[in-house]
Amino acid sequence: MSKLITVLNGPNLNLLGQREPHIYGHDTLNDVAARCNKEAKALGVSLAFKQSNHEGQLVDWIHEARTDSVGIIINPAALTHTSIALLDALSTFEGPVIEVHLSNVHKRESFRAHSYVSLRADGIIVGCGVQGYELAVQRVARMLEAT
Ligand code: DQA
Repeated sequence: MSKLITVLNGPNLNLLGQREPHIYGHDTLNDVAARCNKEAKALGVSLAFKQSNHEGQLVDWIHEARTDSVGIIINPAALTHTSIALLDALSTFEGPVIEVHLSNVHKRESFRAHSYVSLRADGIIVGCGVQGYELAVQRVARMLEAT
């Protein structure tokens, strides 16, 4: 069985494609999942692609990833800027963690410049749109090769 990478998406990302498309683009989250799965297949890894609007659910999925996944890719959305709980959960995970943001958070409101999750992330990809997710899959796969 191929190695599993958990891909987590936080609040409001279920509305991708409808939500502020001038910032987040026209692709839906299903489109993002399809592109990530294509990339994963090419690299010989599998993905568990998930979205929740609830912090506790994301914490639970990070805990599950501790036993079933070799890496985590996470776009925590607004929880990026507020959630010590997500930081603490990610800090219990031993494999690579890549943080992704579709938009360039550093070009926007100043409150988006701070990320709690970045204190744990091994890599951060911002402002590359949906391609950022594909790059994150590539990065985790490369990091796993090195281990
Ligand atoms: C986001 C950036 C966050 O600031 C925002 O709250 C989001 C999406 C991004 O992908 O650009 O919901 O994480």
